[in-house]
Amino acid sequence: MLAEIATYATSVVATPKPFRKHLGPAIGLWARGRRQHVAWTRHIARTNLLLGQTCADQPGHDTAVILGSGPLFDVPLKTIAKKFATVLLVDIAHLAPARRQMRDFANVHPVWHDLSPAQNPDTLDFLHAINGLDWVVSLNLASQLAASVPEQNQRAVIDDHLDGLLALDCPVTLATDLNCTLTDKRGNLQQSFDLLGTRAMPPAPHRWTWEVAPFGEDSRHWRRTHAMAFYPDWKAASSN
Ligand SMILES: C[S@@+](CC[C@H](N)C(=O)[O-])C[C@H]1O[C@@H](n2cnc3c(N)ncnc32)[C@H](O)[C@@H]1O
Repeated sequence: MLAEIATYATSVVATPKPFRKHLGPAIGLWARGRRQHVAWTRHIARTNLLLGQTCADQPGHDTAVILGSGPLFDVPLKTIAKKFATVLLVDIAHLAPARRQMRDFANVHPVWHDLSPAQNPDTLDFLHAINGLDWVVSLNLASQLAASVPEQNQRAVIDDHLDGLLALDCPVTLATDLNCTLTDKRGNLQQSFDLLGTRAMPPAPHRWTWEVAPFGEDSRHWRRTHAMAFYPDWKAASSN
């Protein structure tokens, strides 16, 4: 609890006023990541590795944008900062621990921006205005956008985000969770939820499971696991 309070205190001043309301949930995510460090290791290592490899494959070197960078658990920041002249990290919350990591690189900048199409249907338009935009990554963000709207609007929000990425003039990488399952201690599936508002997704070159909440995190009776998909080239995957 002390760490959470300290993180809030050191994050609040640097956070633009309209975004301060997001600090609570962001600190919750950051604290969960620290608490579940062991359970999340495989997922984080996999995402870091794939993003690092995909970064190396990019033909451009000018500006890279990471949407949903948040606590930077799954971002190989050094690799990306070395390759690109400018790196923009976009999220509704950039906590002090993430800001400290950014300060190691003069070319890495936080951008506070609400990426929810529910707030603004043209929410990705700011990307079109970036000169030399060479790579965009949507990083475990899509399902979060859906989770923040009523069920009947989830599909529209997902479509706006994923189709908005397809409309960009540069390579796009997508990492996203697809669905979530709750399993009891006997290994029986209790419930399963689609996290992308029923949008059919193309086959992903890389798939794995992420144990987001082991027994005792959400409940002592069940564990929550998310199915992950990683598309190094979201446009190519979508055109098949
Ligand atoms: C599952 S987390 C992934 C965070 C990061 N990739 C990591 O693991 O270190 C989702 C991220 O999306 C951000 N997010 C949620 N809703 C958002 C919105 N409407 N606009 C921008 N970012 C949002 C959250 O703040 C959070 O950092």
